[in-house]
Amino acid sequence: MIFGRVKPLDAILATAEKKSLTRTLGAFQLTMLGIGAIIGTGIFVLTAEAANKAGPAMMISFVIAAVVCGLAALCYSELASMVPVSGSAYTYSYATFGEIIAWIVGWALVLEYAIAASAVSVGWSGYMVGLVENIFAIEVGNDFVAGPFDANPGIINVPAMLIALLCMALLLIGTKESARFNAILVAIKVSALMLFLVLALPAMNAENFQPFSPNGFFAKEVVDPITNNMVTVGVAAAAASIFFAYVGFDAVSTAAEETINPQRNIPIGLIGSLAICTIIYMLVAAGATGAVGAQPGGELSQSKEALAFVLNEIGHGWAGKLVAISAAIALPSVILMMMFGQTRIFFVMARDGLLPDVFSKLHPKYGTPHVVTLCTGIFVALFAALFPVGKLADISNSGTLFAFFTVAVGVMILRRTNPDRPRPFRTPLYFLVCPLAAAGCVFLFFQLSGYTELMFLGWTTIGLVVYFLYSRRRSHVGQGIA
Ligand code: ALA
Repeated sequence: MIFGRVKPLDAILATAEKKSLTRTLGAFQLTMLGIGAIIGTGIFVLTAEAANKAGPAMMISFVIAAVVCGLAALCYSELASMVPVSGSAYTYSYATFGEIIAWIVGWALVLEYAIAASAVSVGWSGYMVGLVENIFAIEVGNDFVAGPFDANPGIINVPAMLIALLCMALLLIGTKESARFNAILVAIKVSALMLFLVLALPAMNAENFQPFSPNGFFAKEVVDPITNNMVTVGVAAAAASIFFAYVGFDAVSTAAEETINPQRNIPIGLIGSLAICTIIYMLVAAGATGAVGAQPGGELSQSKEALAFVLNEIGHGWAGKLVAISAAIALPSVILMMMFGQTRIFFVMARDGLLPDVFSKLHPKYGTPHVVTLCTGIFVALFAALFPVGKLADISNSGTLFAFFTVAVGVMILRRTNPDRPRPFRTPLYFLVCPLAAAGCVFLFFQLSGYTELMFLGWTTIGLVVYFLYSRRRSHVGQGIA
């Protein structure tokens, strides 16, 4: 039976005990990891895309995306505290829906994590190039800082590729070192956003909010007057894109096996980091819009370094440079977390026999899953070298929304099939929160561009081919080993 291979929760917990990673992370470090994974290209770069799609009403897009993520975080917390093992939505699906859905989710998580890491690498490249041009007054040109699929095509995005490879190297050395490094980077980017708020909020002007919603609410395709390409616009379309800015809190749950007292600390990390970032984002979106205006086709909407641009425009060029430097230093923390999440998911899939065993091998000296880290790093660097940030972010969102959806449905199913298992964190009002979270994910998915939805379908189809040609026969559950 195709849906018959469910992995019992006890077996999942037992496998994790046997072949596990070292526990070093506490609640504070996890919240830091969460913020490290959340604040990144979304707010620093994609604010411009959101403005282009929704105009000043992008503030509503930020709220919609936050609500969907908040509901999903409540669902994630229940499963992550109940099944505190690496692998996140993939692992929960294995226990709930069975192997084939778990495989599809694991495969979709490659979009969420690896493609997000590529998107952030490209966002970083935008800030880095702006910085070099501003500070050293050098004209960098486009050929080697944009991929061939960019609206303004280049040959290859070299800085994006290099930063992805550097993050890979850091992860090869080890988690603890990367977590410490991450805490410093988080402090830098939160300070940069605070500086932005202190300068942008007083410069707000009510006129900049008019017209408020030039593209209407629901997603629709129009020709972009600047690039002449088809673009999907509207408040809901911007919400589906800016959703990217909040993604990352769930990466906390992928560190479950490296966490001390995960039942308590994982929910704190998940919900705490999302709450802190949501407040900051609301203020930043209002500040950017109010200070310089956010009309589609306007200057902000075309910037590759949105927040630095706003500060320059309101006469704080020095602060613009400082924010750009902070972004250049700190965005790599997001790349690190996303790659980290990806390697842990591959690690768990390999441990289940669905991917080659070599992926679950640990390095004799560093104790890290080095083979899978290398493969992930190369994959991330390749996509970063070729694609523009907006497309990568949307594709990443499609995978994330799918994963969030299965988690929300998973909570409901497990409440019925496993009612007595201890749940250190229970989703409040789950009969309301879970269906709303699931519906929110479906809604946002269908507000993404048709191109993105097609890419998602294509990726899932490739995944199914791999599953039936390779993974299904090697599965430990299938062979009765688990
Ligand atoms: N939320 C992360 C970012 O915006 C992925 O970069």
